[in-house]
Amino acid sequence: MSTEKQFDVVVIGGGPGGYIAAIRAAQLGFKTACIDEWTNAKGAPALGGTCTNVGCIPSKALLQSSEHFEHAGHAFAEHGIDVQGLQLNLPQMLKRKDGVIKSNNDGIVYLFKKNKVSFFHGRGTLAGGTEGAYTINVSGPTTDTLTAKNVIVATGSNARELPGAPFDEKVILSNTGALTIDNVPARLGVIGAGVIGLEMGSVWRRLGAQVTVLEGLPAFLGAVDEQIAKEAHKLFKKQGLDIHLGVKIGAISNRGNDVTVEYTDAAGGAQTATFDRLIVSIGRVPNTTGLGLESVGLQLGERGFIAVDDECRTNVPGIWAVGDVVRGPMLAHKAEEEGVAVAERIAGQHGHVNFNTIPWVIYTSPEIAWVGKTEQQLKAEGVAYKAGTFPFAANGRARALGDISGMVKFLADAATDEILGVHIIGPVASELISEAVVAMEFRASSEDIARICHAHPSLSEATKEAALAVDKRSLNF
Ligand code: FAD
Ligand code: NAI
Repeated sequence: MSTEKQFDVVVIGGGPGGYIAAIRAAQLGFKTACIDEWTNAKGAPALGGTCTNVGCIPSKALLQSSEHFEHAGHAFAEHGIDVQGLQLNLPQMLKRKDGVIKSNNDGIVYLFKKNKVSFFHGRGTLAGGTEGAYTINVSGPTTDTLTAKNVIVATGSNARELPGAPFDEKVILSNTGALTIDNVPARLGVIGAGVIGLEMGSVWRRLGAQVTVLEGLPAFLGAVDEQIAKEAHKLFKKQGLDIHLGVKIGAISNRGNDVTVEYTDAAGGAQTATFDRLIVSIGRVPNTTGLGLESVGLQLGERGFIAVDDECRTNVPGIWAVGDVVRGPMLAHKAEEEGVAVAERIAGQHGHVNFNTIPWVIYTSPEIAWVGKTEQQLKAEGVAYKAGTFPFAANGRARALGDISGMVKFLADAATDEILGVHIIGPVASELISEAVVAMEFRASSEDIARICHAHPSLSEATKEAALAVDKRSLNF
């Protein structure tokens, strides 16, 4: 083999975990390659993985467009802006979304060139070798054989199917089909009231679909702080999402142009519902198919994830794994942090990921964002805590925006005042949560936030006020 195909680091997968790991490895001076098989409709590579192609980016593009549509239909009138003849141009909305995807794909190509990462378009398969020299075959648009001293597996995840209801992406949709529906369904079913179900349900409800959400668990958004989840449930119901909790899904019949779902409701009653389209969003499974794990003796752990230690080392020396294919939250920024940390560990540095300060965001309207512990977790762990909340209804900027639903909630240690969790439901919660993440990373107290000068009028004043509320000292509520 020519030396051109010998690398210090080969990354399999070009999603947020993989492409960021490749860039960081190259920055650290390693000769680096990244292999990714994602291909767009024109047969070209489409770097960025699930996140860029069928996840974070297109969903946020459609959430934004559909929110504009809804505001033009209702909220603008309150501002004194009358919109006549409002019409949905769905092909344009989808075209814009595709353009946003493409510009992100192209951005990564540019970053690879800038950082001298070699890109191979195709499927990467481990094909044996030993420590210091692993072989990876590339097949697909590109056929090649590479060797690597270090391999980073970042092959991501796929949507989980319901038994007996395979995705056809026409009637029964995964996230991929949910992002490309070409006419607004009159009746949209969603199985799973998790992050995808609520985000995609919101998009299509805003565009005119009657959305029914069927959730297996009796509690709404069980991982979210109960007070915030209760508020969210109330607001989403008011918006028109028809949410049924505690259901048991039975037979699903896909007739090609509609689908019938039989289920048992929370009271034990037999129900049948017919939908034009059905989004199944019941979680995702790690993607290790055809990766050649056995050729190097790479072990899987629980539920098919690649088994890794806290530092993303697999059982095979020199082979690492990051992102959705390993344990932990399936989030793009978690994958990226792991990618950076692994590249730095390969370089002998002390790469670090703080799993306690990974923020979560659900991009509904209002947005829901949190970091750290929920109140129910603190109770279960027997931790003595103080809580402070502040409603956006008492925030001047929120009133000016016309977006007053929701609150900021602080949870702090009763003895030391260290911030243990921050939970936000409200406008741009996704941005507001960063202050809390920084504070927790620096192990700040709620008093620290309460004493920091926040610009007026700004939504972030609600964060300061919630911190003040921990010691019952809110000034504006
Ligand atoms: P992926 O992004 O899945 O990338 C893996 C890549 O590896 C893919 O390109 C795949 O084609 C490639 N690959 C797999 N096997 C091989 C192989 N053998 N050879 C070559 N290439 C291979 N997270 C957030 O943080 N914020 C959000 O707003 C958000 N929104 C989401 C919305 C939706 C609808 C979905 C589905 C997910 C969303 N996520 C979000 C989750 C986020 O997309 C994932 O956590 C993230 O993409 C994981 O990154 P990854 O690099 O581990 O894997
Ligand atoms: P999820 O784990 O968020 O939610 C799945 C829901 O389906 C749960 O409420 C679960 O109880 C329910 N469920 C499971 N099996 C069921 C069944 N048989 N019948 C009825 N309900 C059932 O998974 P989702 O929404 O598929 O998203 C996958 C992952 O993608 C998320 O966990 C998240 O990590 C990531 N994601 C992140 C986003 C963000 O950060 N904003 C946006 C979208 C996805």
